[in-house]
Amino acid sequence: MKKTINTAVNFSIIAITVLIFGACTSDPDSSGYEYMPDMYRSPSIETYVDYGEIRGRENKDLKSKLSALTPPRNTIPFCGTDSTEVRLMLPNLRKANAAWKESHGFYGVDLSKDDEYLLAANDINPYKLTAANSASMMTNGKELFTAMCQHCHGEKGDGNGPMVTSGAYVGVPNYATLTALSDGQLYYSIYYGKNMMGAHNSLLSKKEIWTLVHYVRQFQDPNYGKFDANGTAMKSVVADSTMN
Ligand code: HEC
Repeated sequence: MKKTINTAVNFSIIAITVLIFGACTSDPDSSGYEYMPDMYRSPSIETYVDYGEIRGRENKDLKSKLSALTPPRNTIPFCGTDSTEVRLMLPNLRKANAAWKESHGFYGVDLSKDDEYLLAANDINPYKLTAANSASMMTNGKELFTAMCQHCHGEKGDGNGPMVTSGAYVGVPNYATLTALSDGQLYYSIYYGKNMMGAHNSLLSKKEIWTLVHYVRQFQDPNYGKFDANGTAMKSVVADSTMN
């Protein structure tokens, strides 16, 4: 009888040791074999996790399926508590013009409006340029412009980007000829697109678009974004400049 108990104890010790060490893996990021994974892991679907491949294990059924789905209609993104940013969390004040449907294939936006581009003339840039923020605003603007716009509009904003000089594309204006347009109209055209220019609202945030509006302005006026020793904006010839 004693022998049987001893054998059972020994067997249990061996079995437990095998179980404990058998759970180890050499992957430093792995917690080892999970005997009851449902108890450690939330079964909820997490945003941005590619469930098609986790730790090298492939799940063909879930491969290429987005876990980050389009948010419900009228969802408002949260971008902090700064009052300017909060204003921009709300849906865009101007809607796309009806004609934009043909040219830019918008889906799920109100296209009943006709004169929104003209109304946009009244919109001012919520991000004021100041002596303190001008340099960083222009640096950001240059970065965005180089990545998203320069191939058409050209490094100098003269409409001679490589897309145009290669002969692949026509109709890009020289920014210097557009001084009569207001900040709001520049914003509107970048946001919704205009004729041959595509909409950029899915590629850039509202803040980035307003930053680009400042950047486009400095092509039109070499003094735009420059301040004298007293921090006063140097004279700008640009229409509807918000630099004061
Ligand atoms: C594929 C080429 C292309 C790209 C990329 C492009 N544009 Fe344009 N853009 C155009 C064309 C063409 C027009 C002329 C539209 C018209 O007036 O018919 C234009 C016009 C404009 C205008 C004048 C809008 C108006 O109301 O008259 C602004 C401002 C502008 N672009 C800014 C930008 C900025 C900023 C970017 C980068 C985010 C950009 N564009 C990217 C081709 C492009």
